Amino acid sequence: MQACTRFLNYAARARPRSGLIRRLSTTAALREKDADKYYVTQPIFYVNSVPHIGHFYTVVLADVIKRYAGMQGKSTKMSAGTDEHGLKIQQAAERANRDTLSFCTQYSNRFRDLQAAANADSPDFIRTTDPRHRLAVEHFWNLLVDRGYIYKGEHSGWYSVSDEAFYTELQVEERVDPATDKRGVFAIESGQPVEWVSEVNYKFKLSEFRDRLIEWIEDGQDVVYPEIRRNEVLSWLRAGIDDLSVSRPRSRLKWGIPVPGDDEHTIYVWVDALVNYATVDGYPWTDSKPSFFPPDVQVVGKDIVRFHAVYWPALLMAAGLALPKRILAHAHWTMGSQKMSKSKGNVADPFEDIERYGLDTLRYFMIRNGGISDDGDYATDEVLVRHRKDLAGQLANLAARCSSERLGVNIDGFAVLGRKLQSDIDSRDVTLHGMLAELADKAKPLFDKGEFGRGLGLAFDVLAEANRHITENEPWTLVKSSDPEEQTRLQVVLFYSLEAVRLASLLLLPTIPEKANRLLDHIAVDKSERLWANARFGAGWQTPGPKKLLPGVATLFPKLA
Ligand code: MSP
Repeated sequence: MQACTRFLNYAARARPRSGLIRRLSTTAALREKDADKYYVTQPIFYVNSVPHIGHFYTVVLADVIKRYAGMQGKSTKMSAGTDEHGLKIQQAAERANRDTLSFCTQYSNRFRDLQAAANADSPDFIRTTDPRHRLAVEHFWNLLVDRGYIYKGEHSGWYSVSDEAFYTELQVEERVDPATDKRGVFAIESGQPVEWVSEVNYKFKLSEFRDRLIEWIEDGQDVVYPEIRRNEVLSWLRAGIDDLSVSRPRSRLKWGIPVPGDDEHTIYVWVDALVNYATVDGYPWTDSKPSFFPPDVQVVGKDIVRFHAVYWPALLMAAGLALPKRILAHAHWTMGSQKMSKSKGNVADPFEDIERYGLDTLRYFMIRNGGISDDGDYATDEVLVRHRKDLAGQLANLAARCSSERLGVNIDGFAVLGRKLQSDIDSRDVTLHGMLAELADKAKPLFDKGEFGRGLGLAFDVLAEANRHITENEPWTLVKSSDPEEQTRLQVVLFYSLEAVRLASLLLLPTIPEKANRLLDHIAVDKSERLWANARFGAGWQTPGPKKLLPGVATLFPKLA
């Protein structure tokens, strides 16, 4: 309700003028989407080069968020795609002496392949060269014009083709480029070269939104996450923001969507690109309504926070559209603690490494070691360690130790046993019991923030304790006894181990969907019991009917060279 009132305020203050546009935009602004709808977005990738491991991380993180929302019973949508317009792409195609669209198609296909290779769950893949997108951008532009937020003006500033961004005098520095040994002017924030540009552009009245943007970030809960990025954005806003140049002369930039009604200008690539998040939900909604919009989480890298946490919400406010619920800005991957760069040769190819380590091992490594606030270092030794120690050594090993046929696990009796153990805890089980009982509640607030690596750390703490517990309680000795008490104790010990495997597998399900599902199959967890609600102690094996352990756990995480 509070969020709804806030959108109303934005819409009211934006004051639309045209009847038709007012009807469309107010409908979109006022409508709160169904509570069970969940929309996560990936950034759209530039098509000037092939995917690297940093791109793979962004895809996986968004996918984990989507799958986690699905486990909570939400109806989910994920957008993905390629960002194909702009000077950067135009120049890259020229350098390659290629027709621009076929150049884009070639690289766009690699990013589409990446979605499949990463096992991203049915992304709605968009290319900014799609006709549906052009219509959406033109509509969006006309709306801003109609609402009085676009004007024509002189613009001078430093432009970085690589960042597709203008910088002010204070945001650049003159220095020698170590790569070429030549003096030049560079953007301080990104380190990219800039060139002086003075031209007539269309401008967006960004400065009018400063106070509302500050209010949005300060009032909302974690709308820009993590804190380090939130503070960064607030400090930019408090220092003051200028109006934004939103077109380039057609003579310089041909590869883009022309400004409607003025063929001499091309729409700025970032305005074009940002609208993709609405296009995939059917914007401009002339004959329909938003279904998933606004996004619940927008996954972006830390280098593109300004575009998503300042320009994008201001554009939405101007258009009278609802704002995203959260911008989740992740840190970057380095290699050998250095920024990845093709010229240094320290970029990892995700397709090769998926082949080498197995998809789920790579997904787990990236989510576990990858930073939200802090950069992660991509070291292949570390991938092997995570595979050997965590996935094979803790998880699959525990599953194998407690599920051998010789131990006679009674899965059918486990639901009852789980309920009984809630009140009747043996002193030998207190520590593990406590950890299992708390696991979901402790992991949830971390998962909710996108801190999956930290949440999974808790699951592996539990697995370590469960492995210690099984060693100490020796089910392989208990099984030899004919004493009924020892036989009961055997089932209790096995229950704790299998419960640890079950809960850990459920927490791992969004991150390693294929392997976690196989583990859950192995321990006879019904498909209908793989929801977040089942990740509580004792909330498994409820479905009636015979259950049998499946073989094959030993081959789940085979030894890697
Ligand atoms: N096209 C823009 C995004 C437009 S969204 C409307 C863009 N593209 S990109 O291809 O350069 O980057 C795509 C994403 O990959 C960004 O979120 C970026 O932060 C991320 N990464 C690029 N290098 C990365 C690492 N080394 N590590 C982690 N993520 C990285 O920006």
